[in-house]
Amino acid sequence: MRDNFALKSKRDAFSSRLAFILSTAGSAIGLANIWKFPYVVGKFGGGGFITLYLIFLALVGIPAFLCEVLIGKTTQKAPSLAFEALTQSRAWKKVGTLTVWTGFLVSSFYSVVAGWILGYAVQALIGRLADIHDIASAHVHYIHLMNDPLWTISFHALFMCLCIWFLLGGIKRGIERCNKIFMPLFFLILFAIGSYALTLPSAENVLSFMASFDVKSIPPAAVIIALGHSFFTLSVGQGTLVTYGSYLKPEEKVLSNSLYVICADTFVSLLSAFCILSIVFFAGMQMEFGQGLIFETLPTIFSEIPFGHLLSILFFFLVFIAALTSQVSALEPLISHISSSKGLTRKPAVLIVCISSFLLGVPSALSTNLLKGCTFFGASYLEIMNFVTTSVLIPLGGFAAVILVGWRWGISHALKALHIRKNPLLTYFRVAIKYTAPVLIILVFLHALEII
Ligand code: PHE
Repeated sequence: MRDNFALKSKRDAFSSRLAFILSTAGSAIGLANIWKFPYVVGKFGGGGFITLYLIFLALVGIPAFLCEVLIGKTTQKAPSLAFEALTQSRAWKKVGTLTVWTGFLVSSFYSVVAGWILGYAVQALIGRLADIHDIASAHVHYIHLMNDPLWTISFHALFMCLCIWFLLGGIKRGIERCNKIFMPLFFLILFAIGSYALTLPSAENVLSFMASFDVKSIPPAAVIIALGHSFFTLSVGQGTLVTYGSYLKPEEKVLSNSLYVICADTFVSLLSAFCILSIVFFAGMQMEFGQGLIFETLPTIFSEIPFGHLLSILFFFLVFIAALTSQVSALEPLISHISSSKGLTRKPAVLIVCISSFLLGVPSALSTNLLKGCTFFGASYLEIMNFVTTSVLIPLGGFAAVILVGWRWGISHALKALHIRKNPLLTYFRVAIKYTAPVLIILVFLHALEII
């Protein structure tokens, strides 16, 4: 009786399992894979960090991901109604609603950062990056662009318009189409850059660096970074996976489809790390943190190495695709939420959500120029939004999902719905969902708040 929620609803859904896999992979594969992962692997000891990350993926990322997709697929409802349907509780409904708003808050500043990427893709295309031959001129160029409110706002707006265009099409003719076009293109470009990186003399050293396992080279800070990354990269905790899971047809299998997505996400992280480390080490440069890597180090290298111009266009286009498919997935939960709870049709729901997200993102776009001086405890508006979502709300959302599935709905319901019957797997999922995932997520949360 409790498992029959799916029978009651008739909603737009993904047309096939491939559509679910591509769209969910599109969500998971984002800036964290191409931008953050290569940097942290380079900085924190290569293979040691990768091993840690894979362990945390098994203990936190995979169980949390499965719980969220399962909640959506079982109920076939938007997050708030899904949380309520499984618990019959209005308090849990509020928790579901909170995850939807988390995705919305993320989308507001993610669009700004994605706008910078889109802006740089245009810069690469028109050859503006070709004159950058050292870090100092790359820095001057970067600061010049970031200081221009018209530039940051325009690309924030343009990026959001592209999202609106796809979202207006609905699930099959919008989100699904966007991912069916862009994800194969993404892999094609990544393989092209990967093949190029393989020809570089630095490739062999990078491969052995990534395959090495030196525990002593892993600083304690890296442990918490590997842990946090293992669920941020999978789009856990922001309503996205519950929503996309709810578009998966009831007869589809959650476990196998989810594992394809998780493998694709991990593969992209590893291949991106290989590409970027090979290129940076080949040029004899340092791995820079954050914006420095993408907007200063890489453009400097691209202007020096063979085929650099083409590489710069491909690279920024690659990151742009990753950001677009992730952003669409961050906006969809609130669109789905207001359509189902307020009875709005798709078009007004998309416009209300995306325009609000754009407006909420405007101060983030101005954080590097007009609002540069406006800080709170030394942090800009964009940094505050980033902190509140990634350090507080996303861990809380992920924690809620594993607690709901492991403790409230009941682990035996979940394992049955996941079709897991054989023992080593049964024990693994039982322990991971009920114990390791919640405990480790709380650890990330307490660390982010500097409580531990
Ligand atoms: N998984 C995305 C990433 O790695 C994060 C994200 C998901 C951001 C959904 C926005 C929306 O970048």
